[in-house]
Amino acid sequence: MMRLAGKTAFITGAARGIGRAFAEAYVREGAQVAIADIDIGRARDTAHALGDAAIAVELDVTSQTSIDQAVSETIAKLEKIDILINNAALFTAAPVVEIARADFDRVFDVNVAGTLFTLQAVARHMIERGEGGKIINMASQAGRRGEPLVAVYCATKAAVISLTQSAGLDLIKHGINVNAISPGVVDGEHWDGVDAFFARYENKAPGQKKREVGAAVPFGRMGTAQDLTGMAVFLASDAADYVVAQTYNVDGGQWMS
Ligand SMILES: NC(=O)c1ccc[n+]([C@@H]2O[C@H](COP(=O)([O-])OP(=O)(O)OC[C@H]3O[C@@H](n4cnc5c(N)ncnc54)[C@H](O)[C@@H]3O)[C@@H](O)[C@H]2O)c1
Repeated sequence: MMRLAGKTAFITGAARGIGRAFAEAYVREGAQVAIADIDIGRARDTAHALGDAAIAVELDVTSQTSIDQAVSETIAKLEKIDILINNAALFTAAPVVEIARADFDRVFDVNVAGTLFTLQAVARHMIERGEGGKIINMASQAGRRGEPLVAVYCATKAAVISLTQSAGLDLIKHGINVNAISPGVVDGEHWDGVDAFFARYENKAPGQKKREVGAAVPFGRMGTAQDLTGMAVFLASDAADYVVAQTYNVDGGQWMS
């Protein structure tokens, strides 16, 4: 049985990586998806690969105008939004004494303000429709505790967990479930960048940090985007109607809370 038949999902940052895997999984489960990304060329390629069930939508989550236009365009083309995944995010790393205010602002703007104001725009549509909805925010194990070189990114993901709780409690009266997924270390282009940061700051060979973090996962390896799709489908489905304001670790056993 297709668990998302008849549903429409708006997924930010879905041109590549985890967001793309979510879009593929949702289409397999019968949903239509909007691939919403700042990289519109790649979003179009991803939507094309997914066929008729997908559209590409240009979105910069740091711009309110862009959020409003992308949400309107999706509703105009796909009629409604039942599911939002706030997946777009940036990573940054630096020793605390080297953090630049401009970098702090840039990453908070995407990861925190982008999450909140995309959630707000889609929640307004869901409330107006009166049929509830499912909102999934992408947190991280980085939001569960700080790390020496990752202060800003960790703080953004702690904020995402907190926003998930507040929005989840506020919106459930409208039948809108807000929950989050907290991955551990997921291989892909994002982690290529993380590996490069650590190669620079910890004087490691390229690929060394990936090998170290993979070996430290109780499951025995880094995660893949596919490892997260089961939780993303569950949280978007009717089976999650009674799940409210939670953040689920999907991390091979790294974190327990
Ligand atoms: N990869 C991991 O190990 C890992 C671990 C924990 C949490 N996460 C979280 O999972 C999510 C997806 O991670 P990923 O590894 O696929 O990342 P990724 O960097 O591969 O993909 C991020 C996507 O977001 C898009 N994007 C960036 N800025 C944007 C903006 N302003 N507006 C719209 N789109 C924008 C990018 O173009 C890209 O397609 C992120 O929230 C990330 O923080 C990832």
